Amino acid sequence: MTSELTIGLLGCGNVGAALVQLVEAQADDVEQRTGIRLRIARVAVRNLSAPREVELADGVLTRDTHGVVTDPSIDIVVEAIGGIEPARGLILQALANGKSVVTANKELLANVGAELYTAADTAGRDLLFEAAVAGGIPIMRALRESLHGEPIDRVLGIINGTTNYILTKMTDAVDFGGDADYAAALSDAQRLGYAERDPTADVEGFDAGAKAAIIATVAFGAKVVAGDVYHEGIGAITAAEIAIARRLGYVVKPLAIVERDNGEISVRVHPAMVPLDHPLATVRDSFNAVFVEGRFVDSLMFYGRGAGGAPTASAVFGDVVDAALNLQSGTHRTLGALAPAAIRPIDESTAEYLLGLDVADRPGVLHAVTGVFAEHGVSIRVAEQEGNGPDARLVFITHVARESDVQATVRQLRDLDDVRNVGGLLRVIGD
Ligand SMILES: NC(=O)c1ccc[n+]([C@@H]2O[C@H](COP(=O)([O-])OP(=O)(O)OC[C@H]3O[C@@H](n4cnc5c(N)ncnc54)[C@H](OP(=O)(O)O)[C@@H]3O)[C@@H](O)[C@H]2O)c1
Repeated sequence: MTSELTIGLLGCGNVGAALVQLVEAQADDVEQRTGIRLRIARVAVRNLSAPREVELADGVLTRDTHGVVTDPSIDIVVEAIGGIEPARGLILQALANGKSVVTANKELLANVGAELYTAADTAGRDLLFEAAVAGGIPIMRALRESLHGEPIDRVLGIINGTTNYILTKMTDAVDFGGDADYAAALSDAQRLGYAERDPTADVEGFDAGAKAAIIATVAFGAKVVAGDVYHEGIGAITAAEIAIARRLGYVVKPLAIVERDNGEISVRVHPAMVPLDHPLATVRDSFNAVFVEGRFVDSLMFYGRGAGGAPTASAVFGDVVDAALNLQSGTHRTLGALAPAAIRPIDESTAEYLLGLDVADRPGVLHAVTGVFAEHGVSIRVAEQEGNGPDARLVFITHVARESDVQATVRQLRDLDDVRNVGGLLRVIGD
């Protein structure tokens, strides 16, 4: 026997409109497999007269968000508005009114997630959020369910399509000749709709940082928030750095790194050199991937479309079907009690580092420079000289070293007479 459950949708933009289409296309199929008929009964938006990509029956569209989350005939609320308020207040109201909730909102969860997870547990309802991290890639469910019993050591993610697109274009230009300029790659991304007109949230790492905080929370069962994440943007990456990385067998990728070591959690977002034989090195253009390292399961990679209305709506609808099945069986998913997170400061994190120096081409320079590394306990894995005379450049890759030791090395190198310029630091990740 079929039962009908109704959805109240908050927001009908990229994700909301794609969800309307997906529910229309798939409702019969889902009904056949689950015995549940899903129907979008109400859709709340800000502007009733704005053009929509979908047609809705008369009376479905409303500005009354409060009415949707308190409507007794609605079973599941989907929040696809974005931002913190009014999304937070509406979700709390929906849960208090006995609705299960599905959200795609990373900003919200990375800032006030713990409050919302607790409210869902108190209400005995689902708060599902697959789409909030890596769009259509089912990484939240994998971490929450399939890997529930797995001690996860580290998660590496390419979880921002904009920055991956920009670095891919710059890398291709270095490899095949062309304009490897950051500004040109960014404007290309903007023209294709991969980057916003104001690209700050993407290129400075805030978007990936919010997702990394959610991954850390779910992977380690600890309260990690956006403010715990160290982030560096990609704007300072130069064609010269990409070229050096290529020559040494690496590709520069925008990485989110979530690690647990000795009870401490490290969460950071920055460009990094990934070895060419690492699976993440093959993730190009605006694609996303999440690489999970567990003690028992070894390595897993999840790959796909990290954004876009349709892939994101696919993840949202998967959660809606899950929530419907759980409502029917009287259960709900929980993250359990989240522990406080002991966050390791960036200064104490460790990695291998690439560092390039423009130097005077004189006897004794290499000795002076390597002496500074040694003074700070930073040992060198690769040392090369490029060019001669006024173009002389030394390139080093360190062994694994502490960030604070490497930063102290850089500061002291800047004071050496024979060092004309110290380039940016690039971390090497993934070996
Ligand atoms: N787009 C993606 O690829 C993607 C991927 C993963 C996750 N997400 C997340 O999904 C969420 C939605 O993103 P989106 O791209 O669909 O955004 P969007 O296109 O800007 O759509 C937002 C929708 O919310 C409505 N809205 C905004 N403020 C409202 C308010 N106060 N009351 C009622 N409705 C309001 C807007 O109404 P009007 O149409 O009337 O303006 C619009 O329909 C965000 O949390 C985003 O981070 C998006």
